[in-house]
Amino acid sequence: MVILKNTGDTVSWLQKARWKGSSIGFVPTMGALHDGHFSLLQKSREKCDLTVCSIFVNPTQFNNADDFNKYPVTLEKDIYFLEKNKCDILFLPGLEEMYPDGTVPQQHFNLGYLETILEGEYRPGHFQGVCQVVKRLLEIIEPTELFLGQKDYQQCMVIKKLLELENFNARLVICTTQREQNGLAMSSRNLRLDEEQKQRAGALYTSLVTMQQDLRPGDVLSLKYEAEKYLADRSIMIDYVEIARANDLKPVEEWDGTCRLVALVAGFVDDVRLIDNMVMNNNDDSGRNL
Ligand code: PAF
Repeated sequence: MVILKNTGDTVSWLQKARWKGSSIGFVPTMGALHDGHFSLLQKSREKCDLTVCSIFVNPTQFNNADDFNKYPVTLEKDIYFLEKNKCDILFLPGLEEMYPDGTVPQQHFNLGYLETILEGEYRPGHFQGVCQVVKRLLEIIEPTELFLGQKDYQQCMVIKKLLELENFNARLVICTTQREQNGLAMSSRNLRLDEEQKQRAGALYTSLVTMQQDLRPGDVLSLKYEAEKYLADRSIMIDYVEIARANDLKPVEEWDGTCRLVALVAGFVDDVRLIDNMVMNNNDDSGRNL
């Protein structure tokens, strides 16, 4: 695996590969890699000639300094993991490489309704920061295909919108959420949980499965209330439990029995904030319907 830290070197390295006709798969990450990332790398290796992974803990997408400071960093392990999983290139930029003009945003991304709800509501500015860094990464890597995990459902929709807004050609591939044995969605933040907390955090998944199983046409608010109670009983402090249309995240109170729905949840297990989601009907994990 080639490790590139400099933007200019990365651009010219990839330009040469493109001239030779290679397709480039890109897996952007903030490190602390786990089996969820592994599935993205595997998909990229299946579909593309070259796989590039980036590791950069992006300060502009954290609306909470404590969350940024506590974000797990496991670089040595990550490099070993990437070598083992046959990643071709690791792009490992520093802050100056990513933000040569400073981190103050130069552009506002018009995400509309998408950034006023759920993560957008609870983490103001988060998606602007995600767009700021992903735009820069896409300009450097110019991938053929971009691989993201469905665990960050709303982020997938935001990045899809970014691709449209900025006319990027990369094809977005959404990969299924990978889970621990108790259903807990794999996430870098899980490294901050001890065993008891991990067991308790499995309740997020159970609440989603229960909503999915109990879904019937008509009122769906009661499903949300049940899930909220279930999580509160397990000392999970909820930011939101929502049932929404899968294609635009508009909340649904009455279900017509056909519209594709997604249930989304965000909550704190002590001081660790976790999110998860599940498509409730007509499940199609490819993300094509996002
Ligand atoms: O999902 C993440 O790890 C990050 O939000 C991303 C897409 C790498 C941007 O920093």
